[in-house]
Formats: sequence, C-alpha cells, structure tokens
Amino acid sequence: MTHNLDDSSSAPTNAPDLMTAWTTGGDGIENLAASRVPVPQPGRGEVLVKITALSVNYRDLMVINGMDGWKPARQVVPVSDAVGTVVGVGEGVDRFDLGDRISAMFLPKWRSGALTRETYVDPVGGPVNRGMLAEYVVLDQDAAVAAPRTLDDEHAAALPVAAVTAWHAVARRSRVQPGETVLIHGTGGVSLFALQFVLALGGIPIITSSSDQKLDRARRLGAAHTVNYSTTPDIAAEVMKITAGDGVDHVMETIGGENLNQSLRAVKLGGTISFIGLIAGLAAKVNTYEFVTKNVTIHGIETGSRDMFEEMVRFIDEHRIVPVLDSIYSIHQIGEALQHLAQGRHLGKIVITEKL
Ligand SMILES: NC(=O)c1ccc[n+]([C@@H]2O[C@H](COP(=O)([O-])OP(=O)(O)OC[C@H]3O[C@@H](n4cnc5c(N)ncnc54)[C@H](OP(=O)(O)O)[C@@H]3O)[C@@H](O)[C@H]2O)c1
Repeated sequence: MTHNLDDSSSAPTNAPDLMTAWTTGGDGIENLAASRVPVPQPGRGEVLVKITALSVNYRDLMVINGMDGWKPARQVVPVSDAVGTVVGVGEGVDRFDLGDRISAMFLPKWRSGALTRETYVDPVGGPVNRGMLAEYVVLDQDAAVAAPRTLDDEHAAALPVAAVTAWHAVARRSRVQPGETVLIHGTGGVSLFALQFVLALGGIPIITSSSDQKLDRARRLGAAHTVNYSTTPDIAAEVMKITAGDGVDHVMETIGGENLNQSLRAVKLGGTISFIGLIAGLAAKVNTYEFVTKNVTIHGIETGSRDMFEEMVRFIDEHRIVPVLDSIYSIHQIGEALQHLAQGRHLGKIVITEKL
C-alpha cells in the first residue's frame, strides 16, 4: 500500500532528504499545489521508487475537480499511473532489485482471482489513498509490477489503468478469438489499448469517434472499420451493415450511460459487452428486452488484478505493442497536461515526464 506524506521519517542515502509532491483537495486543476516534503523511507517489504514518467486518466480529473464521490476529504497526492526506478529497498524485499523499473497497481491488494470486498480497497491516486504525483513514492513490493522490457518509461507510464482495464475486458472477459468482430467506442486511452490488443489477438476491430481525423489515425493503427458517431449517430445500424446483419461478437462499452443501448443493438445474439465507461453518466434507461432476447452477457469491468497486469506486460513484450501517446509534457506543465485531457481532443495517452 502507498504511504501518506506524514509517514515519512528519514531518507535513504541514495535519495535527497526533500522532494516535491503535488496535492489536491478536489478544488480544481488551478489549485493543485506543489510542496517540499520529506522523501519517504521504505519499511519492511517496501521499495522506494524515483518516479520518471506519469500518465493521466479521466479519473484523475474527477479527483482533482472533486466530482461526485471522487472529491478527496483532505489534501491527497493525485494520479494513479506512473513508472519509476527502484532506488531503495526495505528489509525482506525479494520481488525487485535496485534499478528495476516498476509501476504501482491501481488496486494495491487485488493480486489475482475475483475482485472481493477485501481487495476492492485503497485505489491509488485519491480520493482516499495517495498517488504518484511526487518525485519519490514508497510502494509495497507486492503492490507493484515490473514494466515491459520493450518499452521506455514514457510508454510504460501509459499502462496501469487504461491498458490493464482494456486487457481485462478484451482478454479475460470477452476472450476475443481470431476472426471475431469487436466494436470499440471512442478513441480514448482504454479504447486504443483495446484496439491494439484485439488486433494482436487476431480480432477485427470496428472503432467509433467524433472526429474523421482520429478515425484516419485509427485506420492506420489497424482498425478494420470506422464509424463517425457525430455524422452517423445510429452506430448500431452501421455496425449491422458492416457485419452483414449479424452484429459484432463483442463490444467494449467505454462510454456507458444510454450508449449501452447502441451496444445492445450492435452486438450479435449471444455476444458479450464489456462495460467500462462512465462518461455518459452513472445511471441509464436500458433496453432490457434487447438484453434478454439477444442472450447477451454484460460484464462489469473494474481495472484489473496484478495477475492480469503481469500477463498483459508479457503480451506487450511478446507482441511488441507500443502504446499510442498523444503528447509528452514536462512535470512542470502538469496543469497544462490536465487541461489538455479535459478538452478531450487527445488521441492516445497524455504523458508527463520528469526528464524534459
Ligand atoms: N472501469 C474501469 O476500470 C475504468 C478504467 C479506466 C477508464 N474507465 C472509464 O472509461 C472511460 C474512458 O476512459 P479513457 O481514459 O479511455 O477516457 P479518454 O481518454 O478521456 O477518452 C474518452 C473518449 O470517449 C469518447 N467520447 C467522449 N464523450 C463521448 C460521448 N458522449 N459519446 C461517445 N463517445 C464519447 C471520445 O472519443 P472521440 O474523441 O474519438 O470522439 C473521447 O476521446 C471513462 O469513463 C473512464 O472513467 C473505466
């Protein structure tokens, strides 16, 4: 589990005494505050990590802007996704060595198997648990995963939430097989990872976007078919044309809300829908007749376990998958990076590096 700022006592010899950490009370990007605090010291079974790159997710905006239940009750360090180098090890550490590149898991206690009450706790990056937006963090060695050896830090930082969620949906829940069709909504972080995983598994991705420019890019990334949902709002009718009236084998429902009705119409009899997104709201009026009579399986997807993260890292290395990055900002431009995410014009992950 990650530590609170006030858990820190003294710094190990290969790190400075003080570091910068950014905190939020959920009162907006402009109020994100940088402060000088002691570098935490790893205890038994823990490692000290020098953060080298981070990436931002829609959820980070929910925490920083204090939306719904994501508003922190006190000042917390936000942002869940990062990669860093192990620069200190506590007693009893046997999973990592000095110099290893690692990332924190979003749900630190979910190691394998089904999500339970005991493991669905302490998501990293607020509103409860501290996150990665600091120069150094201490991690429980069991709550971290080694970065893919084929990716540099900026690309590896893109993985912890969006890629693990996409892997959970595509590989573990929908279990996409070669030749199967998969409808992917939008071109956000989760969707582009889903596109890359579906392609590597031999599936046939159909992707939607509000932008023809983004759809061109998606085709260059390997999308077999594209639908602009601004000019063609009846996505399901278009998908039926593409699939000769059958519907798709699987849907990645990254939008949520009443968009689920499009997915239910677009999926084939007996198909699956991986329900991931909350963009269109936390509740919806759903066509339950379509759901029942089509024999559809809808899976709720909550990020993923360590086991899934490690399986995905092996897959990324084996298939040489390179995450799509939209832009790389310096750590000093964290506000601009978050504003860019909020504008929604990005294609691929927005990354922050400590190196620029
Ligand atoms: N369940 C989980 O564990 C989990 C994990 C990660 C993310 N999520 C959720 O999944 C969703 C996507 O996350 P992300 O990080 O991929 O987001 P993102 O990078 O911000 O991308 C969102 C994309 O969705 C599309 N979009 C936005 N509003 C839309 C609308 N009203 N109708 C149709 N498409 C719309 C846009 O695509 P175009 O610009 O191409 O039109 C946009 O780029 C969010 O709700 C997030 O909270 C859930």
